[in-house]
Amino acid sequence: MCGIVGYTGSQPAVPVLIDGLRRLEYRGYDSAGIAVFENGSLLLAKKAGNLCVLEEAIKGNGFKGNTGIGHTRWATHGAPTDINAHPHTDCTGNIAVVHNGIIENYLELREWLKAEGHKFRSETDTEVLPHLIEQFYNGDLYQAMLESVRKLKGSYALLAININEPGRVVVARQDSPLVLGLGEGENFIASDIPALLPYTRRTYLLDDGEVAEVTADSVKIATIAGTEVSKEIFYVHWEAEQAEKGGYDHFMLKEIHEQPKALRDTIRGRISGDCRRVTLDKELHISPDRIKNLRRIFITACGTAYHAGVVGKYVIEKLARLPVEVDIASEFRYRDPMINPGDLVIVVSQSGETADTRAALREAKSRGAHVLAITNVVGSSVAREAGDVIYTWAGPEIAVASTKAYVTQLISFYLLALWLAEKRGTVTPKKQQELLQAMKTLPGDVEAILHASDRVEQLARTYAGYENIFFIGRGLDYAVAMEGSLKLKEISYIHAEAYAAGELKHGTLALVVPGVCVIALATQPELFEKTVSNIKEVKARDAEVVALTFEGMTAIKEVADHVIYLPPAHPTLAPVLAVVPLQLFAYYAAVARGCEVDKPRNLAKSVTVE
Ligand code: AGP
Repeated sequence: MCGIVGYTGSQPAVPVLIDGLRRLEYRGYDSAGIAVFENGSLLLAKKAGNLCVLEEAIKGNGFKGNTGIGHTRWATHGAPTDINAHPHTDCTGNIAVVHNGIIENYLELREWLKAEGHKFRSETDTEVLPHLIEQFYNGDLYQAMLESVRKLKGSYALLAININEPGRVVVARQDSPLVLGLGEGENFIASDIPALLPYTRRTYLLDDGEVAEVTADSVKIATIAGTEVSKEIFYVHWEAEQAEKGGYDHFMLKEIHEQPKALRDTIRGRISGDCRRVTLDKELHISPDRIKNLRRIFITACGTAYHAGVVGKYVIEKLARLPVEVDIASEFRYRDPMINPGDLVIVVSQSGETADTRAALREAKSRGAHVLAITNVVGSSVAREAGDVIYTWAGPEIAVASTKAYVTQLISFYLLALWLAEKRGTVTPKKQQELLQAMKTLPGDVEAILHASDRVEQLARTYAGYENIFFIGRGLDYAVAMEGSLKLKEISYIHAEAYAAGELKHGTLALVVPGVCVIALATQPELFEKTVSNIKEVKARDAEVVALTFEGMTAIKEVADHVIYLPPAHPTLAPVLAVVPLQLFAYYAAVARGCEVDKPRNLAKSVTVE
């Protein structure tokens, strides 16, 4: 939820810290701060507001130190104020800490530390950490950190420095991501890879329950119990500019336009040359026996990933003929799900760090299910805790609004559904080949849609002033309508709702009056006529209707005010294409309304708290 960075080496630390925080602002941006060693003292600056406010505050301060830590915050405990901003310090001001996560037992620790004489200044859970380290400090920050984290319950990615140990940064990780970047005579720490890319691609991915001591020339990693850990270097293949905007006005637009490449990269190596087979066997360790005895699948995720799961349900049931239940992750474990050990639970998460999804993953494992993760971040918590992983090779997704991750999650579900169908004999080789050949044309189809985006942009500007927009559809179109609605509301702040088209007349039609816009998806041939009837229903209430369908399905222009046509594609694969105009519609509406597209209010890219 927050972005944290650390540096120790020969360069001045401040520029490295600020640059790293800027690359992590998508993780939270309501306050920021840094702490740097400087000639035997610890210089600290922290400000509410985004990073520019902090930069203004430290301009001319001449921070020259070579070791420091930094933080950009998404508030969980305590409002975004200067006092609540990180870093937080102990009573002496000699220890500074930045933290991402939630310390669940902070109240009891705070009471105990107060009884030990510690004075608190902020309302945050984080502030217990520097005081805890101070309590256990006997001349060794690393040992004090080990003692301290053993007292903690909750999630944390922690960086700590101590005035008495210049050049050292001690870190700890539990349930919040932390990556060490390995340089020459310098080392870096960050909550996410983009902050490291300009400096190094050689990294150590810290695991839960690990602590590390980082100096300019060394990295020592151990478990909380104190057992030394040796790590493989994880080489990051992302290019630095991938994490930049690449010439687009916003990360979101860049990532919408990266979808053809993301689709190609996610498909690559997973379909046989003759398009007869899905070649997931080398990635999945689901035994033939387990597949043979598979009776039910659960899918659980949040937000856009959940919407991908709804499509996943349709395609797995349709192709592999297995019953599928889809749950919002924050609901899943509280409904006492009836999971049997033979069941398969699929968790979907772009970041691989969403707390609700990770909790659902653990719930599934505790009930004996085999867990398969679909995630975009190699080495993410979800990837490491699941039994199997299908990676979406979408590259870093920086914008809060998820786009390329969604379409690559869809592809992952199509591949998985066909892989299961082939093993279960529920789809003919001809149908399998037809679908796989069609899948290979999707990147080109998306390119065609992107090249003709002017029409969507124009419609978006037309309707950007509307305050209520409904998205309706049936079957797969309804699943995509959910995603279109979320995209629009989360970045343009227009009230948007997705509705099963056949359900409107059972209540929501009461809200359809002049001045309401309805976006109707009609890509499924067997449901087309029904959806046309639903469009007539809303037109009869003077709604403005924008229809979305395939080229050739021109009857719809008789009833809709505007029609967006998609290049022809297999109807089962329609969601991959239909979502693209909806992403563009949301983007251009948000731009027309002057919204902060990449950093929408109240939201963050990775929600690592429950
Ligand atoms: C999507 O545009 C939103 N930013 C949000 O709903 C997101 O999909 C959700 O928080 C899940 O994130 P994850 O895929 O990283 O788990």
